[in-house]
Amino acid sequence: MCGIVGILGKGPVAGQLVEALKRLEYRGYDSAGIATLEEGRLTRLRASGKLKNLEEKLAGSPHKGHVGIGHTRWATHGKPNETNAHPHANSRVAVVHNGIIENFRELREELTAKGHKFTSETDSEVVAHLVADGLNAGATPEKAVAAALKRLKGAFALAFLFDHEPDLLIGARRGSPLAVGWSDEGAYLGSDALALAPFATSIAYLDEGDWVALRREGTTFFDAADNPVERRRQPLQTGSFLVDKGNYRHFMAKEIHEQPEVVGRTLAHYLDLAEGTVRLPFELTFDPLKLSRVTISACGTAYYAGLVARYWLERFARLPVEIDIASEFRYRDPPLPEGGLMIVVSQSGETADTLAALRYAKDHGQHVLSIVNVETSTIARESHTVAKTLAGPEIGVASTKAYTCQLAVFACIALALGRARGVLTKEQERALVSELVAAPGQMADALNREAQIEPVARDVARASSVLYLGRGPAFPLAMEGALKLKELSYIHAEGYAAGELKHGPIALIDYAMPVIVLAPPDASLEKTVSNLQEVAARGGHLILIGSPRAKEEAAAELAGFVELPEEVSGPFAAIVYAVIVQLLAYHVAVFMGKDVDQPRNLAKSVTVE
Ligand code: M6R
Repeated sequence: MCGIVGILGKGPVAGQLVEALKRLEYRGYDSAGIATLEEGRLTRLRASGKLKNLEEKLAGSPHKGHVGIGHTRWATHGKPNETNAHPHANSRVAVVHNGIIENFRELREELTAKGHKFTSETDSEVVAHLVADGLNAGATPEKAVAAALKRLKGAFALAFLFDHEPDLLIGARRGSPLAVGWSDEGAYLGSDALALAPFATSIAYLDEGDWVALRREGTTFFDAADNPVERRRQPLQTGSFLVDKGNYRHFMAKEIHEQPEVVGRTLAHYLDLAEGTVRLPFELTFDPLKLSRVTISACGTAYYAGLVARYWLERFARLPVEIDIASEFRYRDPPLPEGGLMIVVSQSGETADTLAALRYAKDHGQHVLSIVNVETSTIARESHTVAKTLAGPEIGVASTKAYTCQLAVFACIALALGRARGVLTKEQERALVSELVAAPGQMADALNREAQIEPVARDVARASSVLYLGRGPAFPLAMEGALKLKELSYIHAEGYAAGELKHGPIALIDYAMPVIVLAPPDASLEKTVSNLQEVAARGGHLILIGSPRAKEEAAAELAGFVELPEEVSGPFAAIVYAVIVQLLAYHVAVFMGKDVDQPRNLAKSVTVE
């Protein structure tokens, strides 16, 4: 969840640390801090709140050190104030931490009894004292870190800076990602490649349990048993990591508008456009004819993508689908079929619960296929097969383009399995592919509906609770729409299956609560319209997102209507309708003056469970 960085440079590193932290702020923004060596002494600068507060402080107190570490925090233990901000330090060592130290209470008691003085409420500070304890006993920094790591329980990535050690940084990884980068100007540690992209020209990733010592004369990797090991160094393509908002006010707006392009690019990667068929860019590690079931697990928006995909996999490949959110799946001890297929979905590829679900599936003999946006992520590296989404870096905390790209990949996989299992004929495949390739153009058209969406958003912004309804793939899309609205605007929202309304939620209907009905012109349109009329009959506040036919059939008084063309129908309409629910949540948040790209309490990459 937090972002960590370390730089061993040839000139002052404070500015570069802040630059790298800007690229990591998507991982958390409760506080930020750096530590550098100033004339050999550990010197910290920390600030609560966003990185700009740290930048302001730094402007008034320039740091000149050539080696340093930095952190941007998503609070787990202790309030998001300056005292709890990283780096945590004592006179010997400073540390930045991403993750959770599960046994920090026992360690804190033990170290307090030995005379260590704690100044924060965090779990992380214990790591600094544990290492200092080893240093006080005469260990070298490397030995002190190696010994401390063996005492820690939990998931973490760490970077250490040592007093009077201007030539050394140490990093460690267990459960949370950490990369090492190099250039002619220095060596770097970072939570991901994005952080290192402005500086490093090559990169390597720590494997699970690894730790690494960065010195000016070279870098040494060690495995969990402290054996020196080699880790593959690869070139870092800086161009692909450019992070800016272009002409948009927010990253989210930019990312919503990029969707026709990135979904098109993703489809082009999975389709033979000349043939009009699916051509998966990887070999299947299983026989589709022998599959008895597909299991899907993910979190948040990625989970909702899986729920949409269930309709496609069942319909096009006639495969039963079991799907659960990863935090539940991992602890349910679910029985899995021999040689089954597990699909995990993750934008970041680092979500702790999804990773645990993947590992469970692997341990239980499943073929693991991951749909990920970050190809170098842990989930990608631990999967048997990686199906990448070509969304590019997604910076807005609310997932938008990654979601529609996940849907695009799922659609292609469902069609490929349908063909391979003999459920779809080539003609049927071609017809479905041609519907799918229409989606990017339809999304571009949907993006032009902002003039219709804005008045609806102004209306929704006045509500304190909102209900989204849909059927078929539009049901999980209703949940996704509700998630977008609540995370961006902090308005309570729920997504419901339209047919379930009468089993309880209908009691909520009054004019104060907008009911947003997603009604693409598919086979269930009539039934969705009946549900809409049930709301109208009770004086409900109806907003319809649908085709002209849906409006006509509804024949009800609507507080708002966003129209999509009749042609946006069929199984893949949810990909296009997604654009509307995203834009609606975005505009509500903008009207309300909310922090669109960094909503409160959230982080982009959830590497704790
Ligand atoms: O990186 P992942 O796709 O694994 O992340 C999963 C969820 O944390 C993520 O989708 C979250 O729900 C977003 N904030 C939704 O906009």
